[in-house]
Amino acid sequence: MKTSDWWKQSVVYQIYPKSFNDSNGDGIGDIQGIIEKLDYLKKLGIDVIWLSPIYDSPQDDNGYDIRDYRKIFTQYGDMESFDRLLQEVHARNMKLVMDLVVNHTSDEHEWFEASRASKDSPYRDYYFWRDEENTNNWGSIFGGPAWQLDEETGEYYLHLFSKKQPDLNWENANLRQDVYDMMTFWLDKGIDGFRMDVINFISKNTDFPDGPVKNGDLYGDPENNFCNGPRVHEFLREMNREVLGKYDIMTVGEMPGASIEDAQIYTDPKNREVDMIFTFEHMNLDSDGENKWDLKTLYLPDLKKNMAAWQNGLQETGWNSLYWNNHDQPRIVSRFGNDGAYRVRSAKMLATCLHMMKGTPYIYQGEEIGMTNVHFNDLADYQDIETLNMYRDRIEQGFSHDAIMKSIYTKGRDNARTPFQWDSSENAGFTTGTPWLKVNPRYVEINSEAALQDDDSIFYYYQTLIRLRKEIPAVVYGSFKLLLPKHEAIFAYERQLDGEKLVTICNFSAEAQRIEDEQLLTDIARGQVLITNLEDTDSNVLEAYQAIVYKI
Ligand code: GLC
Ligand code: CA
Repeated sequence: MKTSDWWKQSVVYQIYPKSFNDSNGDGIGDIQGIIEKLDYLKKLGIDVIWLSPIYDSPQDDNGYDIRDYRKIFTQYGDMESFDRLLQEVHARNMKLVMDLVVNHTSDEHEWFEASRASKDSPYRDYYFWRDEENTNNWGSIFGGPAWQLDEETGEYYLHLFSKKQPDLNWENANLRQDVYDMMTFWLDKGIDGFRMDVINFISKNTDFPDGPVKNGDLYGDPENNFCNGPRVHEFLREMNREVLGKYDIMTVGEMPGASIEDAQIYTDPKNREVDMIFTFEHMNLDSDGENKWDLKTLYLPDLKKNMAAWQNGLQETGWNSLYWNNHDQPRIVSRFGNDGAYRVRSAKMLATCLHMMKGTPYIYQGEEIGMTNVHFNDLADYQDIETLNMYRDRIEQGFSHDAIMKSIYTKGRDNARTPFQWDSSENAGFTTGTPWLKVNPRYVEINSEAALQDDDSIFYYYQTLIRLRKEIPAVVYGSFKLLLPKHEAIFAYERQLDGEKLVTICNFSAEAQRIEDEQLLTDIARGQVLITNLEDTDSNVLEAYQAIVYKI
């Protein structure tokens, strides 16, 4: 039965298996490679591991296109190695959360193969099929139209992502039951929860209306016709009745386009939908408009306003997840920090700012050693389908090569996916073979072996932040209040619980900042420093990228 809230007190670490650790020299990370690094994760102090998909897949989208939900991708291992991983994780008192990708399958999944074979197949209705007249003008998130003609029956199927990722039709009760059975299969093995891929896309407006075509766009914007659709809450509640509610697990829904009001409904415990969601709002503030490839410099007050709104919005009901990074986002130290002279200091500052907030923090592999974005000169060195399709589309739309490469350097998903940097040996100790994606040349300087040997490293700083969360209940449960909302360089906030107050002050700029706020100065004078990324400074001045947490 689902009763406890251990997930509120936990820190989650995300592993992208393909890029984590290769145990057999084929250039691809694998399950055995993960097992070999569990002690490293234990040392960091994390509680939960979230594994990006390890299921059988043709890898059109690195495993987010699943061919068989009950089989492990051969290059990663087999069910026996998975069972061993789960056992080894549990033996170290950690938990394991799996990725659940059920908005779509691979076009090589047996459901889709049966579905496309004939209009009379019982699986036909597991996906969305329309004749040409009844398709619409939506575009796929990975470029091109969202409808693909299938020669077999002359009809089109819907794919919000690549054409090898057809969308499942959740209106069909048999499909839903098949998904619930599959989830039960994994939960009965003893896994500890699910991260649910684009789970707020599962209910579509099945009228499929055309969307408005905005300036310069090739396709209509589907607006709210698949995000947070008409039956999404009903489906999630059914999923809880049928499956989730029977286990003591955690769930986190990835939900692009979910507002704070949506999140209140999704995460209110009495609704029994999900424990928390991933918002995208704070990740869109350095885009000019809705397209992530159109770049804009972050204006700090926007970030503070947005994050504070989520903190406040889920203060009474629901719960936040806290993240800067995942396998879809560029590296945070290169993004909101400084990956040059202040790399170490700014990585620690960003960690402080996130980990002292209210919610469950997520660390993405390599964040704990300050891994940075990568700049490959040759487009051929990129692997991500989203990046490659965007390049093709933008060339067609008349963008210059240089402008497109700049967007890729700043926002491309391969920034997060270059192999983990374990040491300074060839290929960063990730593989003895040829890595599937090139390593970031900065591995010589930035690697976990070096971090473990340096008491002052980003790694040990994360370790301390995780420990503080375990020692101080106010970090987990305290109320949140934003301070200095208009300040353009300082991100400051307080947390309060039972008369105890924590004040976190972070400088997001490379210039020293003098603190002028009276209340803050009083708190600083009375407070005891819990953690800082720079010792022995004038307490009324924040040095470049400095962060301090006071206990008052
Ligand atoms: C999610 C995943 C992303 C994937 C997409 C389609 O956004 O995080 O990596 O490409 O869904 O499954
Ligand atoms: Ca391997």
